[in-house]
Amino acid sequence: MEKFNLESIKNVLIIGSGHGIGLSLTETLLKNYQDCFIYTTYRDVSRCDSLKNLESQYRSRLVTSLVNPLDESSLEEFTNELSEKVQHLDLVINCVGVLHSENMKPEKSLNDISMKQLLDSFAINSIVTPLLAKMLLPLLRPKPLSVFASLSAKVGSINDNTLGGWYGYRASKSALNMFIKTVALEFINRKIQCLSLAIHPGTTQTDLSEPYLKHTKLNVNSPEKTALNILNVLNDLSTDANGKFLNWDGSEISW
Ligand SMILES: NC(=O)c1ccc[n+]([C@@H]2O[C@H](COP(=O)([O-])OP(=O)(O)OC[C@H]3O[C@@H](n4cnc5c(N)ncnc54)[C@H](OP(=O)(O)O)[C@@H]3O)[C@@H](O)[C@H]2O)c1
Repeated sequence: MEKFNLESIKNVLIIGSGHGIGLSLTETLLKNYQDCFIYTTYRDVSRCDSLKNLESQYRSRLVTSLVNPLDESSLEEFTNELSEKVQHLDLVINCVGVLHSENMKPEKSLNDISMKQLLDSFAINSIVTPLLAKMLLPLLRPKPLSVFASLSAKVGSINDNTLGGWYGYRASKSALNMFIKTVALEFINRKIQCLSLAIHPGTTQTDLSEPYLKHTKLNVNSPEKTALNILNVLNDLSTDANGKFLNWDGSEISW
């Protein structure tokens, strides 16, 4: 059975690499896999200084693009331009996600439910992934084995939900998981050898988790450690991993 081998990757796409886990994945890939070329996107120009520094340091192997993944035409323009530069993507990781923002706080109870916040959660956490899969289809060739992964969250596991709350984040990550599984089945039908994966990165010190870390009993990793964990999970995966929801340690998470 063919295995995904990080040592042989050439072209990588990281969506949402301005900061947090996406930035660390970009940096770790650049440092540890010297033959790969990385295309990355960021949206918020006020939070991408570290990525821009990396770009000047690795000018010959890193290209960053300003893309709003919620804007279909921005995403399409970017993927069309990418198709002119590369023929095959070996690894795609979507790191876009939101738990809180200026206008969003995770719901503690039904009293906090609002149409706007739920729609925003689903747009950012769920819908970017199938849009990307559609637009990247021409770059996911039948061979060699490639990976199309999105960062999900364990709280999106329906079986694991014993605490309640966080309606929008939980449900939008569950929907993301369904999209990932459905994309996996379509890859098989299309005879594209690409592993469609949902990955829980583990609790990680980033802007997304920062307000909730004081109270957590979970082990908290640095973004750098999380990037290494994610890449470890991907390395050596075989075709039977397609459509799975994987934890940062490589174990499978129940839907
Ligand atoms: N940190 C954790 O403990 C943890 C745990 C489980 C799962 N995750 C998942 O891991 C992924 C990465 O999160 P992170 O921890 O690295 O957080 P982060 O530093 O806040 O990064 C979030 C990413 O999502 C993008 N994003 C946020 N709001 C957006 C919007 N409205 N439109 C478009 N893009 C938007 C950000 O881009 P811009 O800033 O450029 O807009 C950034 O690239 C997320 O999917 C998250 O759910 C994280």
